[in-house]
Amino acid sequence: MHRQRIRHPKFQERVVSAEEAAALIKDGMVVGMSGFTRAGEAKAVPMALAERAKTHPLKITLMTGASLGNDLDRTLAEAHVMTRRIPFQADPGLRKAINAGEVMFIDQHLSETVEQLRTDQIPGIDIAVVEAVAITEQGGIIPTTSVGNSASFAILAKKVIVEINLSQSETLEGLHDIYIPSRRPTRQPIPVVSPESRVGFPFIPVDPDKIAAIVVTRKLDSSSTVLPPDDDTRSIAGHLADFLKLEVKKGRLTNELQPLQAGIGTIANAVMHGFIDTPFHGLKMYSEVLQDSTFDLFDAGKLDFASGSSITLSQPRYEQVITDLARYKHQLILRPQEISNHPEVIRRLGLICINTALEFDIYGNVNSTHVGGTHMMNGIGGSGDFARNGHMSIFVTKSIAKDGKISSVVPMVSHVDHTEHDVDILITETGLADLRGLAPRERAQTIIANCVHPTYRAELTDYFNRAVARGGHTPHLIEEAFSWHNNFRLHGTMKP
Ligand code: COA
Repeated sequence: MHRQRIRHPKFQERVVSAEEAAALIKDGMVVGMSGFTRAGEAKAVPMALAERAKTHPLKITLMTGASLGNDLDRTLAEAHVMTRRIPFQADPGLRKAINAGEVMFIDQHLSETVEQLRTDQIPGIDIAVVEAVAITEQGGIIPTTSVGNSASFAILAKKVIVEINLSQSETLEGLHDIYIPSRRPTRQPIPVVSPESRVGFPFIPVDPDKIAAIVVTRKLDSSSTVLPPDDDTRSIAGHLADFLKLEVKKGRLTNELQPLQAGIGTIANAVMHGFIDTPFHGLKMYSEVLQDSTFDLFDAGKLDFASGSSITLSQPRYEQVITDLARYKHQLILRPQEISNHPEVIRRLGLICINTALEFDIYGNVNSTHVGGTHMMNGIGGSGDFARNGHMSIFVTKSIAKDGKISSVVPMVSHVDHTEHDVDILITETGLADLRGLAPRERAQTIIANCVHPTYRAELTDYFNRAVARGGHTPHLIEEAFSWHNNFRLHGTMKP
């Protein structure tokens, strides 16, 4: 069966076992692997690498698009294979190794990694390992459920290993749009002018001589771990819908809105799902990860088109979408992450960007990554690419975490990913704060009035009033600004 998928006449003889392919990876190498939010990652070669490291230790720098499925980040961390990891992860095992200082994690805007590689600002890729549906007659690589950084990794690498995954549907062929920007400073504008724009090839063009090994696999993508909507996420979705309806009423948007971007995880997925119960229609997405909610919106007739860099679905949705892919295909494009997340395109298309915060402060600074200011959760991912450049930057979160022991709205965030200058709207289940056009003192008042859980509102009001009495453009009690985090560290609750 794999012979139909390896169409280049010379490539049949390059088929080897995963162990043989993994043997090409040597100690000290920089390896770029496919994989983006648990979709389309190379599966057999990293497993073989982790196995080999048990008896023959080695260390590599591992770059991917984003997080890996099939517990690969955990397996590689446990095998002590990674000395450095770039640019995103979401695995509890790897998180532990990063927070213990065992793995050096470079938490990077997802649009930036290949720009830095292309200009030799970071060490170049020795070997790329890319999962594919097929290889064309000319040697072009057809990716699977994600594009991520795979195209540039393969183009820039000295050698390429291709994993042909027979469990990935051949109907994926034709879904991808591989456009690689030319070199700076003479780069031409990226010709994406709408989510539907097709501007590249349906395969990754690589020099056939660089394909050093082909491995045949059958392992499925892991399903997503998002939880279904709950009362809080339904309230957040409701506040967003009411706000957007008002924007339409004021003539600032139409019922088709503007292309939507939604972040990863349970909350963003649930908020997007909420668009089903709104008057908005003819919607389009220009996003990064396409989760279950994208297909819920297609099925509800609300969404016309979705452009992303990966498709990451729950188990039942995955089976249904893959079976019915021919039905959805004309409404979908998968692009390299530097194009899905490109500041130029995001600004041009005027995206409405919805991402999730861990915590935000009374002035609108957002922390998406660091628990307690020190411990990495997942990484900034694409949230900064979108928040800085979108038409409207919205952050959502529940007002409390860990059964109310943590307030997600704090005097001062313990780590800043998105500054007050990049944040327009904040939403929790208690309400929405529209920060546009407001000065810091005004922002604090609207955030405290609308977004704070009732059990923390009086304390936060008291903090703000005492800070204002002391003065300043952005008033703070510097000695108290992190006292809520300190309380949690010492007593297991932020409550004074
Ligand atoms: N302090 C400490 N922990 C907090 C917290 C806070 N202020 N707020 C939430 N958490 C914890 C939750 O309790 C939960 O913990 P658990 O895994 O032990 O249950 C965890 O964070 C995840 O929260 P959850 O409510 O399940 O949200 P989510 O699945 O929507 O994920 C982020 C939220 C912020 C972790 C996730 O969106 C993320 O990594 N974002 C950064 C990258 C990004 O935005 N990418 C998208 C760009 S397109």
